[in-house]
Amino acid sequence: MAERAKRDDPPVPEPGIRLSGESLGIDVGGTGVKAALVDLATGELSSERIREKTPHPATPDAVAATIATVVGRVLEGRDVTATLPAGCGLPGVIKDGRLMTAANIDSGWLEVSAEEVIGAAIGRPVLAINDADAAGIAEMTYGAGAGHLGTVLLLTIGTGIGTALFIDGRLVPNMELGHVEMRGKDAETLVSGASRERRGLGWKRWAREFDEYLDRMERYFWPDLIILGGGVSKDLARYEKWLTTRAPIRPAVHLNASGIIGAAFAAAAAVATPGGPSVDTAVATKPGRGRSTATKRAAPRPRATPRARTTAARATPEVAAPAATGRAKRAKPKPVPPQA
Ligand code: BGC
Repeated sequence: MAERAKRDDPPVPEPGIRLSGESLGIDVGGTGVKAALVDLATGELSSERIREKTPHPATPDAVAATIATVVGRVLEGRDVTATLPAGCGLPGVIKDGRLMTAANIDSGWLEVSAEEVIGAAIGRPVLAINDADAAGIAEMTYGAGAGHLGTVLLLTIGTGIGTALFIDGRLVPNMELGHVEMRGKDAETLVSGASRERRGLGWKRWAREFDEYLDRMERYFWPDLIILGGGVSKDLARYEKWLTTRAPIRPAVHLNASGIIGAAFAAAAAVATPGGPSVDTAVATKPGRGRSTATKRAAPRPRATPRARTTAARATPEVAAPAATGRAKRAKPKPVPPQA
């Protein structure tokens, strides 16, 4: 048998997989460290969402201590099993449980295994995943992208620009499209939420530049749907009129909880997927019941592509036909981008 290529990416949930039980989600952002328990059947938070400010500098030790405090408060007084899945979203590329880039977090993270440091801090195995990938998984499972096939691009516009790309419901991990070149600069330094504030841009001026950024995304990826998350997404109504994308734009549904929800889901999906995870292979079970709480339900057949059929036979995904997108598509021709 041919040798399998080494996989360094975090395990990606099977499109359409449905889980039940609880999982712990943690989200480390530029301004806050947040955590909560997530009800995997509904995507709702099943505990209070606890938040503390991100320490500065955001070194591994300092952030791990904050995570320990936040998670300690989430789990306080709760009877959770030792095998409760735990996932943590971090603002950088994740390979082999480690951060490979650190644009908005201390570079000390490049020297350590994030999964080991955070796992030691909370006393249980943890799955590390890019924060935007986590947010995307949440939106594709329970939110604005649920049931969407085709190419879906989620953008989180906050301290940085996070991006998550899905093809027929499957995540392409670690897309770093917030750092594409724009006007000779890293796009994130021009049009992220933090850059908008730093540059003192009003909505109109920012939206015009953001539209230029979106135009680049469309030229390269031709998404069928764009989901907008992060702080600016709640203000979409104020600047939508200046956005000229071909693809419809929808605001994220879960806003500031999507990173938590997606990290929790990814960790639970990893333990439920054969051959998967770098987290503990035992899944959360209710005391006295030997059954895994991570289950897959039978589902309607997805679109009849060879890939979808294969996946359906293995994992009984619940990917529905593409949903109506709510905004009329504008016929905007895209010329070939000029050579750099
Ligand atoms: C990082 C991404 C991250 C995004 C949002 C960017 O600077 O490179 O990995 O997803 O910020 O936090």
